[in-house]
Amino acid sequence: MALYAIGDLHLHFQSVLKAPGQLRDRVWRNHEERFRKNCQKLITPEDTLVLVGDHSWGRNLAECEQDLQYICDLPGRKILTRGNHDMFWDVKKTRRLNELYQPRLTFLQDSYEVYRDYALVGTKGYTFEGPFWLDRRGRVVDWDEAEAHAKKLVERELARLRTSFELARADGYRKYIMFLHYPPTNILEERSGFTDMAEEYGADQVIYAHSHGESRFHDSIHGQFRGIEYHLTSGDYLRWQPLKILD
Ligand SMILES: [Fe+2]
Ligand SMILES: [Fe+2]
Repeated sequence: MALYAIGDLHLHFQSVLKAPGQLRDRVWRNHEERFRKNCQKLITPEDTLVLVGDHSWGRNLAECEQDLQYICDLPGRKILTRGNHDMFWDVKKTRRLNELYQPRLTFLQDSYEVYRDYALVGTKGYTFEGPFWLDRRGRVVDWDEAEAHAKKLVERELARLRTSFELARADGYRKYIMFLHYPPTNILEERSGFTDMAEEYGADQVIYAHSHGESRFHDSIHGQFRGIEYHLTSGDYLRWQPLKILD
């Protein structure tokens, strides 16, 4: 029995591919088949696989049916969290998604799931990705006006994450793995509301995705930081090999 994670499958069996880089970069070539084979070799029916957002390019559920079916057909128990491109998943309709796909898939939002004595908590998160205005010494002097809007999104996501932690804590869980789609910090931050919340509840690990391509892989924290393990699990970073989080 093991817990695995990976994000950013960006499937498009029915919908139009919206990222040109996904065509150009070799790592994306035939990635659906490579990922499926890797899962079939690695994951047993007793294992759990958390898919950390950006599942599909489909604009609505009808355009995602084959993508979600592909995920259903992977081995093990599958838990999904939201990414910024998951247009099919309206937070307010999460219950409906769960009703449609139970017991094949679990959509985690304002809730938690259990793995051994751990609570799996999470939300999409949000990270301001710039532009940042720098002075000649490379110090940040101003952020784009979008940053004010970004702060609101961060607050909303922090509230959702807290709901997830609190539900688990109320049920007696004290060990947590925290899942975000966005990196826990922007490229300039050492800490954020998300790293602070991970510390407040004593999460063992923070798993995130969203960063694609070599130039973005080191946008946020890797490895140990203030007593917590951070792992980037975007599919292209992991070369479509799910990362083992826990035995
Ligand atoms: Fe993505
Ligand atoms: Fe993303």
